[in-house]
Amino acid sequence: MKKIFLLLTVLLLLFSVAADAGDKLPSGKKLYKANCKICHDEDSDNGEYTPMYLIIEQWEEFYDKIYLKTHGKVVFSKDDTLTVPEVITDEMLKKIRKFSIDGAADSEHPMTCG
Ligand code: HEC
Repeated sequence: MKKIFLLLTVLLLLFSVAADAGDKLPSGKKLYKANCKICHDEDSDNGEYTPMYLIIEQWEEFYDKIYLKTHGKVVFSKDDTLTVPEVITDEMLKKIRKFSIDGAADSEHPMTCG
């Protein structure tokens, strides 16, 4: 009997490790801080933006239509060679988008990003 428990525990551990490995990215909040807030903190010349600064509809419009237009030529990498959309991958942007919308002004839990 003990052996079965041991086996189950090991299996469970293996599964949870596998599940984590599928999503190596930091949380949307961390990604937002590192990739958006860095340019949009209070007093920023680019305007201050945290999730609760816009409503859901505005965030959707931003990611669908405005992001590439306004950030496509903004340089972001340390050596000044890569633009914002070249640094932020699609997978990262997906998580950042979800974080913004989940914390929008008219969401259930409006959020700054701390
Ligand atoms: C390297 C700096 C930089 C980074 C990184 C950056 N932005 Fe921007 N952002 C800008 C600049 C520059 C503008 C244009 C400001 C202007 O035109 O006055 C802008 C504009 C905006 C606007 C206003 C767009 C409009 O005109 O309606 C929003 C919203 C925004 N950024 C959100 C974000 C989000 C979300 C992220 C992360 C995915 C991000 N930004 C990453 C520099 C940055």
